[in-house]
Amino acid sequence: MLSNKEDVIEECKRRYGMPELVVFSPGRANIIGEHTDYSGGYVLPFATSAGLYFAAKKRKDLLFEITSMDTRESEIFEIDSSGIPKTTGFTRYIRQALLQLQVSEIPFGISLLVKGDLPLGAGMSSSSALTCGFLALCNEFYNLRLNKKELVELAVKAEHGTGVIGGKMDQYTIFFGEENKALLLDCQTMTHDNIDVNVEPFGFFLINTKVKHDLIDSPYNTRRNQSELALQKIQNFENNHSLLYKDLASATKYKKVLDDTLFKRAQHIISENQRVLNMVKSLQTADINTCGKILNDSHYSLRHYYEVSCPELDFLTDICSEFDDWKGGRMMGGGFGGCTINIFLKKNIYLHFEKIASSYFKKFGLVPELYSISPSGCLYTESLDS
Ligand code: GLA
Repeated sequence: MLSNKEDVIEECKRRYGMPELVVFSPGRANIIGEHTDYSGGYVLPFATSAGLYFAAKKRKDLLFEITSMDTRESEIFEIDSSGIPKTTGFTRYIRQALLQLQVSEIPFGISLLVKGDLPLGAGMSSSSALTCGFLALCNEFYNLRLNKKELVELAVKAEHGTGVIGGKMDQYTIFFGEENKALLLDCQTMTHDNIDVNVEPFGFFLINTKVKHDLIDSPYNTRRNQSELALQKIQNFENNHSLLYKDLASATKYKKVLDDTLFKRAQHIISENQRVLNMVKSLQTADINTCGKILNDSHYSLRHYYEVSCPELDFLTDICSEFDDWKGGRMMGGGFGGCTINIFLKKNIYLHFEKIASSYFKKFGLVPELYSISPSGCLYTESLDS
């Protein structure tokens, strides 16, 4: 059987001829630091080996022909004289990426095939993988000389253009991920430290609820607004407008200036920033029990204070807690579906998962999926000889 990379190359050869460029754009997992990125807090994500492969060939005309081999969708469109892509189809992330690049005088169009093993809409940043991969590809083809940080910023803006005002964690991880390392990213300074991730004989496992969340329709943007409003009120109270959640030890003092909802949101963000730093310490001392407990505390906070969980995610974390080989887990990503991230003893995980899957199916009529994940390398581009 062909790998995804061989598959996109072969399909490109068959349709258009030998591709000139292949891009791999990974997904991202997040150990901890959920809903902290857009308020300048800490996160601890890593790039996954699951990702998207792109095979691209320059065209003689000015058209873009984009095909997803996963969803079997294909679209062909052109860019008008002011650099605006004339499309509204499934390629919305690509359209937004092109808008950001403002390549009004593009020298040639692109034929592109995309295929991967990244579950779509599962909270592993398939949309960022697509946006970042396409921007990296244009950077090479059009010789734009953008550096990684500039590409991160463009990808973030492009994704905002689709309606979700997300943070920068996903795009940064895709461009800066490293094998065996998680990134302790400070989303205020946008700089990171590499953290060794070795939890042997345990491992990180994602369980996909198969509930599809589309952040555009979810209250993600509402949470972001609430997070900003609560911070403003705290800053006003302290008369310090550069104060951030990550500088605070507790939300208690602000109970009188925040309503119940804003107080809960602040409580989550303040404690989650601390959990990121505690997780780093526990990973460094290989204290797996504490790592697990921190994940559980995070889930509690996301469920009750930030209110971004859902019954499927709660059920999965509850049922996993019945296994001695499980050290802890929580919902991962924006929420309202997607995956849980768990620390499980590797041995016997598949046996345990059969039981988890059967209970989950009985309750929700859905078949969950299990992914074993570990930190992998970042996005790369590879020129091929034509
Ligand atoms: C989504 C966003 C990220 C981040 C997470 C929640 O994945 O794209 O920027 O806010 O949700 O931590």
